[in-house]
Amino acid sequence: MTQINYDELSFDDEDEMKFPRAEVQDFDRVVEQAVSRRGFLGGLLAFGSGAAVMGTGLLNGSSAIAQQASRFAFEQLAPQTDGTVHVPSGYTWDVLVRWGDPLFSDAPAFDPKTGIPTKGSDRVFGENTDGMELFHKRGTELLVVNSEYVNAKINLPAEQDGQPASADDVTRLQNFQGVTVMEVAEGENGWDVVFDSPYNRRIHHRTPMAIDGPAAGHDLLKTAADPTGTQSLGTFNNCGSGRTPWGTYLTCEENFNSYFGTTEELSLSDVHAAGFKRYGVSTKVDPGRYNYHGFDARFDISQNPNEPHRAGYIVEIDPWNPDATPVKHTALGRFKHENAAYALAPNGQVVVYMGDDERGEYMYKWVSRDVYVHGGDTSTLLSEGQLFVAKFNDDGTGTWLALTPEDTGMTEAEIAVFTRMAGTAVSATTMDRPEWIAVNPTAVEAYCCLTNNSRRGALDDDGNIRTNAAGEPMVPNAPNPRDVNRYGQIVRWRPHNDDHAASTFDWDLYVMAGNPEVYTDGLYAGTANINAGNMFNSPDGMQFDSTGLIWIQTDGDDDNEGDFLGMGNNQMLAGDPVTGEIRRFLTGPNGSEVTGLTWSADRRTMFVGIQHPSAPFPDGEGALPRSTIVTVKRADNALVG
Ligand code: FEO
Ligand code: CA
Ligand code: CA
Repeated sequence: MTQINYDELSFDDEDEMKFPRAEVQDFDRVVEQAVSRRGFLGGLLAFGSGAAVMGTGLLNGSSAIAQQASRFAFEQLAPQTDGTVHVPSGYTWDVLVRWGDPLFSDAPAFDPKTGIPTKGSDRVFGENTDGMELFHKRGTELLVVNSEYVNAKINLPAEQDGQPASADDVTRLQNFQGVTVMEVAEGENGWDVVFDSPYNRRIHHRTPMAIDGPAAGHDLLKTAADPTGTQSLGTFNNCGSGRTPWGTYLTCEENFNSYFGTTEELSLSDVHAAGFKRYGVSTKVDPGRYNYHGFDARFDISQNPNEPHRAGYIVEIDPWNPDATPVKHTALGRFKHENAAYALAPNGQVVVYMGDDERGEYMYKWVSRDVYVHGGDTSTLLSEGQLFVAKFNDDGTGTWLALTPEDTGMTEAEIAVFTRMAGTAVSATTMDRPEWIAVNPTAVEAYCCLTNNSRRGALDDDGNIRTNAAGEPMVPNAPNPRDVNRYGQIVRWRPHNDDHAASTFDWDLYVMAGNPEVYTDGLYAGTANINAGNMFNSPDGMQFDSTGLIWIQTDGDDDNEGDFLGMGNNQMLAGDPVTGEIRRFLTGPNGSEVTGLTWSADRRTMFVGIQHPSAPFPDGEGALPRSTIVTVKRADNALVG
């Protein structure tokens, strides 16, 4: 049997391997079909006119750009293709912390050839930095950061092919993931982690968690170790982040399915079998990506078939109390959570927007039953309320469909555990992999990165449109208009009545990424706000700054060839929501994804995450590549957002 190199295999490709579908059709032919499809262009023009009302849009972007002065304080950075970070002239960057750097003075030293040993691997900054948020109180600043997954070959360099060979290896991988809470401070020589701060904390794959919401205590969540179904161990594949108005951190469990496997042929209930299929939990006897199940029975679904039901949630962490137990909020649904972006409705209800990052999955919204009052009781705000899923209409309107027992035919607990099935039951709109959602602090609107979907509109061997995991054909639709969407787009919506709790909205596309040099017209050229100078693909991370500029981070193809020629390495760009203008600001080293962004309390420093570089960043030739958080400042120490 051929050994699978999981370090080279994306989570999408892993899904594809487990649920194989036919190869895509010839790309040129697909483009011809897309641009000649009259219905499409009609639809796009409709967004354009809707967008004009909203002040920007698809087809009028460039004229708007020409008419208004730029709000950017920097000159656009050219695309880069090397092994380091670049920022525009007038800005500087520095390393804050790398995977394996100590949080405590008793942490083991990092060996540039072998990394960190297992003993002490929970005393260092985690691997593969992702979503992060900064919290500050009375002069103390805490950076809370996700460590999404591990590149096993880099984290276990002594083992053949990076596969764990012992329970000790599995423990080391488990310790490198999860969440890091660390105090940071700026001194004369820049920013540093404060060693031994009482706030410093590692939360990993074995940290005790509480479970609340409709699924807590349900039979689907009970295990031999936890017959109550209310306490689990670990938070998994912590991707994007979020925060609450009351100052807690939200970590979002994404590709949790990859940690589970089986050591024996299975005899599953129909409910378990259907759930594993829809969520991509492997039922084949093989080591999989991490082979936890080979050494830790908790991850072996032949022994613990309910354990995967205890992952895939939004998890709340109090950064100011290192003893607080994180809480898994099942009311906000179980899926491959990307991030969690909150807004407050005019009456104080808490709204949380969330994407499910898999091809053809959906976008969701939580609305609390009770209202947020500063200093008041917040205990129900992420457990009592209503979960909705998005339906986008071709005419530029949309509806949030409530996931209720009446509408789905499922119980409240089943909706919480098998949320994807509930979305299918109400005919939610299949999306091109919803990644980060960001809420504009200066206008009542929100944005979602739809990163790409190479299977959208593609045909299988029988000539049928390829499907999502529910078997729904991924036919192009208005917010996801491109067959074989390799570039991605950002959809934006404005809730009716200026109320994020409203059940209806208007929407348009803020940008469709593309390559106007390779495709001089048609959908693959991108929208008018994409040009030869600012090209990118696969928008993913996204945050608004306090001035209402939107910062877009990419996780795409960085080979700088063919369809991606002229885009260079993955990058971070700034967008103006009003004019549509987009400018490249930062580029990452080869192989890296730029993900995770937050600001210091004084807004003079940006913290930017560099995940999974393939270049030996930042330590240079011969050293292991290390995911890294960098600080970015203006040379004159002016505000940066
Ligand atoms: Fe972890 Fe969808 O990015
Ligand atoms: Ca992401
Ligand atoms: Ca991504």
